[in-house]
Amino acid sequence: MAMQVLAVASELYPLIKTGGLADVAGALPAALGGHYVSVRTIIPGYRDVLSKIGRVDVRHQLGDLFGERAELLEWRAEGGEEILVLEAPHLFNRDGGPYVDPAGQDWSDNAIRFAALSRAAERVARGLISDWVPDVVHAHDWQAGLTPAYLALAGEPRPRTVMTIHNLAFQGQCGAELLGALGLPLEAYAVDGVEYYGAVGFLKAGIFYADHVTTVSPTYASEIQLPGAGMGLDGLLATRAAEGRLSGILNGIDTQTWDPSSDPHLAATYSAHSLDLKAANKAALQQRLGLEVSPTRPVFAVITRLTWQKGMDLLLEAIPELIARGGQLALLGAGEPAIQEGLLAIEATDPGSIGCVFGYDEPLAHLLQGGADAILVPSRFEPCGLTQLCALRYGTIPVVSRLGGLADTVIDANDAALRAGVATGVQFAPVDQHGLVLAIDRTIRLYQQPDSWRTLQRQGMASSIGWEQAAGLYAALYHRLIRGDI
Ligand code: ADP
Ligand code: GLC
Repeated sequence: MAMQVLAVASELYPLIKTGGLADVAGALPAALGGHYVSVRTIIPGYRDVLSKIGRVDVRHQLGDLFGERAELLEWRAEGGEEILVLEAPHLFNRDGGPYVDPAGQDWSDNAIRFAALSRAAERVARGLISDWVPDVVHAHDWQAGLTPAYLALAGEPRPRTVMTIHNLAFQGQCGAELLGALGLPLEAYAVDGVEYYGAVGFLKAGIFYADHVTTVSPTYASEIQLPGAGMGLDGLLATRAAEGRLSGILNGIDTQTWDPSSDPHLAATYSAHSLDLKAANKAALQQRLGLEVSPTRPVFAVITRLTWQKGMDLLLEAIPELIARGGQLALLGAGEPAIQEGLLAIEATDPGSIGCVFGYDEPLAHLLQGGADAILVPSRFEPCGLTQLCALRYGTIPVVSRLGGLADTVIDANDAALRAGVATGVQFAPVDQHGLVLAIDRTIRLYQQPDSWRTLQRQGMASSIGWEQAAGLYAALYHRLIRGDI
């Protein structure tokens, strides 16, 4: 019989997405199926999620959950994976985003909302659903961070727990006065517990109480053990690593959703053998974004949350240099208004060279991948990063900071790698404006050598970027945990 896993996540593609976490929570369960691991994922019943799933028949009563009645709705994804939707209208059925209200402010009751997700997960892990008890509970990011804590604090027997860090910048903290309301015992409020610099830390709790901690690339797993990238948790993470309880497993992407040979959002589909057809997508993209339609100007795409993490301030400074070298910029982003304003100001000076679309637009993200020559990912830190993986699959050259998952997924086109025929993109360090401009310069010079460029594209398209390898590593980890090997 397959091993049973309960995953806990605050986003899951295609039901609700703000970033890569949704992609991972959506795609990993299907890949694990190939390794005899059966996953059910519990997610919050946000208004958008409830309207997408429509009517469901199978419901499990949770009774009182932080003040009002709640239930779990069973829904099956297209691939057959089972999703448990936590219907708790007092916490989730509202206008606005998963984490922010319609004015863009964090929901003031986020601590209770996501404690409720973790509490519901704990109830399922302890047998709420008849005939189904998971062997392993896999919690994703701070929103699920209290799950390992609730399970560990309630004692054995319990399933083994894995805590995956997708982003240390979001840690989920609330005042210590909420300890009781969260259902945490006083003794848990300690350095060896949920306490974090005088507050309750959700991610801290998950990292401390989980049987194993993973993050989404091996390089990020090393970086976060040091001050800086560790963002205040480096000491605890280094301890967990020394215990053999921290590892990095590189994400994949869904190779069906992201497939240039069948992508319905492209003007022309293509493969590694028909890369000339990419030109039709380039023209369509230039037209769509109001750029000069030119087959010879290299188009750099950016698809991102507009935040400091993603190095958008560096990009702003580098755009004039990119344009001066003949390049064009096609940007799709949602996020900080100040960055949007900066981009708009540059766009106004040369609309034929820079085109920006603000907001979240899935089909346009696909056209950008299909139509651009290169994609820029100048992140200041990047646990894994998924847009560079999509780019590899679309024959679009990734130009990335040399850190985190970006360092693990792109092979820099240095002379040795070019001669060996293994290069797939351009990496740069240090991550500053100068480094980014030099990388853009190097990319444009490669673009001007069509044979080298084609080799880079083909190498990238041949890279293994699916979920197969990661799924095997997660399955092996679950098995080791159940056997008590780690
Ligand atoms: P992060 O999760 O840190 O935002 P990732 O690179 O891991 O970064 O994942 C981002 C995901 O969100 C990718 O699937 C990317 O295509 C998508 N994405 C980011 N911004 C947008 C946007 N404005 N519109 C559509 N998709 C976007
Ligand atoms: C986070 C990280 C990103 C990663 C994604 C999925 O949002 O910022 O690097 O790819 O999670 O794991």
